[in-house]
Amino acid sequence: MYDYLIVGAGLFGNVWAHEATKRGKKCLVVDRRNHIGGNTYCENVEGINVHYYGAHIFHTNDKDIWDYVNSFVEFNRYTNSPVANYYGELYNLPFNMNTFYQMWKVRTPEEAKAKIQEQIEAANIKEPKNLEEQAISLVGTDIYEKLIKSYTEKQWGRKCIDLPAFIIKRLPVRFTFDNNYFNDRYQGIPIGGYNKLNEALLEGIDVRLGVDYFKNRAELDASAKQIVYTGQLDEYFDFKLGYLEYRSLRFEHQTLDTPNHQGNAVVNYTDGETAFTRIIEHKHFEFGTQDKTVITHEYPQEWTPGQEPYYPVNDDKNDKLLREYRKLVDAETNVIFGGRLAEYRYYDMHQVIGSALAKVRKHFGE
Ligand code: FDA
Repeated sequence: MYDYLIVGAGLFGNVWAHEATKRGKKCLVVDRRNHIGGNTYCENVEGINVHYYGAHIFHTNDKDIWDYVNSFVEFNRYTNSPVANYYGELYNLPFNMNTFYQMWKVRTPEEAKAKIQEQIEAANIKEPKNLEEQAISLVGTDIYEKLIKSYTEKQWGRKCIDLPAFIIKRLPVRFTFDNNYFNDRYQGIPIGGYNKLNEALLEGIDVRLGVDYFKNRAELDASAKQIVYTGQLDEYFDFKLGYLEYRSLRFEHQTLDTPNHQGNAVVNYTDGETAFTRIIEHKHFEFGTQDKTVITHEYPQEWTPGQEPYYPVNDDKNDKLLREYRKLVDAETNVIFGGRLAEYRYYDMHQVIGSALAKVRKHFGE
């Protein structure tokens, strides 16, 4: 008899399993996929760790979380500095002095600020009514038109004028020549890929892959005293109140017979004609020197039930449904719900690890 059945071998489930085992408990982890790691899973192709479910860059300000992950695997010094491609024009991201020089040939922070301010004033938007107006009122028309508009429309599948203003609360604008996307103090990629982290978390723990909890529910429930569930919240309750909606993605992985395709891990395509939003070249996450390279085109997609759920849609309709499902969660006595799917919430990796550690401590009364 196991103490815990853990449904889902993503970061939440794996951290829980590791911490419970450390506290003398016996755990069984099951996943319906044929690999561990959830969305952080890397597939090794030509010696390159391919981020199979989308680019994953670890970043945090929390030293405890950084030390925690580094205790399982060493991280490299990768710094995310994406490039935007707008009809062949290249711009550094996030918006910084390099971007402003590329956009307007301005050379000083004063010149850049003046240019942005001039465009904001010309637009004369007092109360932004939609995402387009909000973005222009923050960074002016040029940056909006070339670097925000079409990219955002592709991501959401809707026009910026039909998207609410609150989606963009602020747009980071940096008046230094600094292409580091994140402001966090700690950042990197596990040396050898995320599988190393997940394997270390699950060392010595029973894992069954290719096992769908719902297809083996009675048998699995009987095998453990308590359940930690990290799958979709609505699926746990057989969708009885309706479907929580997601935004989905389609990834097209491709091996190329060249050592370096685009010279950067992440290139965003910000024009409206290219259907994909980004090309990821995976070897650059780990400074790879292989003869070949693997790239991934990322296509945003409408989500229909049964498709891979990626980003929760936290609009009024889904938030209301979430509140109803949460009432059912509260009535469930022997199950701990955690992670991005069971909480229907976007979590970065450091956040989901933090959440798992906090829930473990609370559960064990520490
Ligand atoms: P995750 O989804 O990883 O794991 C859940 C597991 O449960 C899955 O393996 C699933 O198969 C399994 N499961 C579900 N139902 C089941 C059932 N019925 N039976 C058995 N198994 C079941 N974060 C970050 O910090 N930096 C980044 O750059 C990115 N990038 C990024 C890109 C994209 C495209 C996405 C969608 C997300 C990111 N993230 C990210 C976020 C990161 O992926 C996220 O924080 C973690 O994967 C969350 O871990 P979980 O364990 O919650 O879920």
